[in-house]
Amino acid sequence: MIPEQKVREVLDRTSIVEVVSEYVQLRRSGANFLGLCPFHSEKTPSFNVNPAREIFHCFGCGTGGNAFSFVMKMEGLSFPEAVKSLARKAGVEIEERLLTPSEKHAQDERQILLRINDIALDYYRTVLKQKPEAATARSYLDRRNAAGAVAEAYGLGFASDRRDDLVKHLKAQGVDLEVASKLGIVRKNEGGWYDLFRNRLIFPIRAPKGDVIAFAGRVLDDSLPKYINSPESPLYHKSSVLFGLDLALPAVRTEKSIVIVEGYFDHLALYRAGILNVAATCGTALTPDHISLLKRHVSKVYSLFDSDAAGRKATIRSMELFLEQRVPTYVISLPEGEDPDSFLENNSLEAFRVCQEKARPAFEFFVRTVLSQIPADSIDSKIRIVDELIPRFRKIIDPLERELYEKEICRLLGISSHAFRKRLGGLSVTVRDLSNSPASHEHIGDTRQETLLALMWRHAEARSEVYSIGVEKLFAGSYLTLASLMLQEIKGDVDAQELSHFLEKAEAPELKVILSRLFVSDGHLADVSWREVFDSCQRGREEKAIRFSNKDIAARLAVLEPGSEEYAALLQQADLLRTRKSKL
Ligand code: GTP
Ligand code: MN
Repeated sequence: MIPEQKVREVLDRTSIVEVVSEYVQLRRSGANFLGLCPFHSEKTPSFNVNPAREIFHCFGCGTGGNAFSFVMKMEGLSFPEAVKSLARKAGVEIEERLLTPSEKHAQDERQILLRINDIALDYYRTVLKQKPEAATARSYLDRRNAAGAVAEAYGLGFASDRRDDLVKHLKAQGVDLEVASKLGIVRKNEGGWYDLFRNRLIFPIRAPKGDVIAFAGRVLDDSLPKYINSPESPLYHKSSVLFGLDLALPAVRTEKSIVIVEGYFDHLALYRAGILNVAATCGTALTPDHISLLKRHVSKVYSLFDSDAAGRKATIRSMELFLEQRVPTYVISLPEGEDPDSFLENNSLEAFRVCQEKARPAFEFFVRTVLSQIPADSIDSKIRIVDELIPRFRKIIDPLERELYEKEICRLLGISSHAFRKRLGGLSVTVRDLSNSPASHEHIGDTRQETLLALMWRHAEARSEVYSIGVEKLFAGSYLTLASLMLQEIKGDVDAQELSHFLEKAEAPELKVILSRLFVSDGHLADVSWREVFDSCQRGREEKAIRFSNKDIAARLAVLEPGSEEYAALLQQADLLRTRKSKL
């Protein structure tokens, strides 16, 4: 934990223009500096740095924030890492808060456990390289083109078939076996201590920085289970680890994209072929944790699963997660029945690159998969298809993307977009869920609320007026969060630079982006009357309330019998709403 006071000090002593200039050529443009965005490719600059407010925002790709956000994104660092990195440059010394005894204990234990894994790995590697009992393993690796430099790069090893070779080795090294058993690599039963991995090829699984946190062991023949992994331990949480990410990170940072595969050997195959930005799940489906981890480093994900039914299923499941977290994802399809390893065995890197270039957006892949499973040849099957598509369709947050997919689906099925929307609304009313979600607000952007938010920053009076009428009467979604935060954190007049501190209070990246967009060039707001915007916001929210109830009504009408009592009552209600609205 870095004390808040220190974070502030670092920010105060940092000039965002200097920080950005290390990566981007900036030129003055009015009050701001302008350059080509390092986070997406562009020919005309839309990357703005506001030196007075100490923030940046790219109007091309929507990235924004303060100096910390910039360094985090640019270098793929966590927040504390970014603070420390800028602290070094600014000459601010950060002495970490003293650890509590239990934190200290956990940290010491972690060090000890890592050390045990290192000893074990050294041992497995030596066996693979030198011992006669590893001869089969060596020729197995030869056959799979994974001997020599490849085995070295990954640190592959071999566990012999004896019951307790590792146990003996750890003991000889003075390791406490009870402690080692927390890693699951040695265990105890009536017969005494024994090894987890026997007669298996060993893959070390590493954290992004290279620490060995677990192992996977593969059999050398067709016996089952094919793989066993270290169990969950204080070091290893399989739902948040990606195999090979440590090797991939340098390439991931330059390419800003990553290929996700399923198998250890698939990782080897791609990496060996020269596709270095690749990581593999460790025998689990992708989880939200994986995606948060990836989001820190990439703006695009390629998913490359086996071309069989199981692979397609995994692809679609991971697509839902990527859609929810808004990570653009493309599906690389290999010829039926191939996995990346077999494909690269028989084809060149160029052939693979061709497949990669043909990768389709995950949602499109999904639509095509559903259409290939359910032929759209009857009304019945079309309804089934639509019902299959809709739950995932709802997860598309970008309005433009939604519209394009809607058109495409309607075209493919030969249905009208009216019918599609009716089904979308009729299955359950999500129009409202969607518009209330912070994410969609950011995209759709409500100019009135945005302007009022920006004016609240400038005018203490506006803040107190918002406070007295009730912030939720004026704002919704992310704007509501930000406005409330502003009321809570900001008192009296604020100086320009205060904004970059406020950005830290708004922890979520999507909130930071709204702020940077609003404030990176807000000179035109100098003469705007906050009172007018305030009034218009208030009217806007009331109108919206009515519009939503209208939508609800429309959705319910769609599924009711015309002529029923309920239908008539709803129509009447809609009429009332219309009159109310015209009076606003
Ligand atoms: P090869 O079959 O040797 O090419 O290995 P692979 O790594 O390509 O494995 P495969 O495509 O069969 O499976 C993909 C991934 O699923 C593996 O890398 C493992 O992470 C996981 N996996 C497969 N079989 C098992 C198993 O029996 N147990 C566990 N825990 N994981 C498995
Ligand atoms: Mn394989």
